[in-house]
Amino acid sequence: MLNQKARPKSTRPAEQATTDFHGAKVSMGGITSGASIKKLREEARGCRACDLWRNATQTVFGEGAAKPTIIFVGEQPGDREDLAGSPFVGPAGKLFDEALVEAGINRSEVYVTNTVKHFKWVPAERGKRRIHKKPRADEIQACRPWLDAELKAIKPKVLVCLGATAAQALFGRSFSVTRQRGVLVDSPLAPKALATVHPSSILRAPDANARRDQMAKFVADLKRVARLARGGAGNRKKA
Ligand code: URA
Repeated sequence: MLNQKARPKSTRPAEQATTDFHGAKVSMGGITSGASIKKLREEARGCRACDLWRNATQTVFGEGAAKPTIIFVGEQPGDREDLAGSPFVGPAGKLFDEALVEAGINRSEVYVTNTVKHFKWVPAERGKRRIHKKPRADEIQACRPWLDAELKAIKPKVLVCLGATAAQALFGRSFSVTRQRGVLVDSPLAPKALATVHPSSILRAPDANARRDQMAKFVADLKRVARLARGGAGNRKKA
């Protein structure tokens, strides 16, 4: 049974104007050019640019400081985020919070968002759990105008992709997080741009030692992000 709970009313339903966006028909009528994050969040509530809204509770838009230096971009909201309406508040979000604290980054001073703004899931074979499903390329493309609008509104100094979905959406399909994590990427989207792992990959570590090791590397990447945000070179790997 699909989740029918708290479905938001469409502010701009499917009949809104469509345009061709990298080959995908994307509903653009709901996005006001140059709008503030507050306005964009309201507009995104009724987004029907792809079908993911049908099984999701609500649009999970980005959240954070009014004038952040750093923007973090994840993949898509998970089960908890879908219910809460906020990004990175579930298990991966808790791990992300711990890593931010260790790296000396205050979450209230950054902006956190996702590549795709609706939770994509399939029912568990047994029980009621909703299992995360990776978004398809056309769903990522359909959602892209929201991310572009967020980047335009925020103009971050440092753009950080968390995991391959965000990194490949923003830096190109051939981007490899394994090979290029922590490396500055030339991007028109921000003066400093880089990717690191998705925090959920650390939750999937096979044992406590591997998890400790992966967390230490993640924190090291975030410390570099903090130095870049302060105007430093980050003291590590250059493109
Ligand atoms: N994973 C993500 O990519 N984003 C969230 O908001 C939560 C988990």
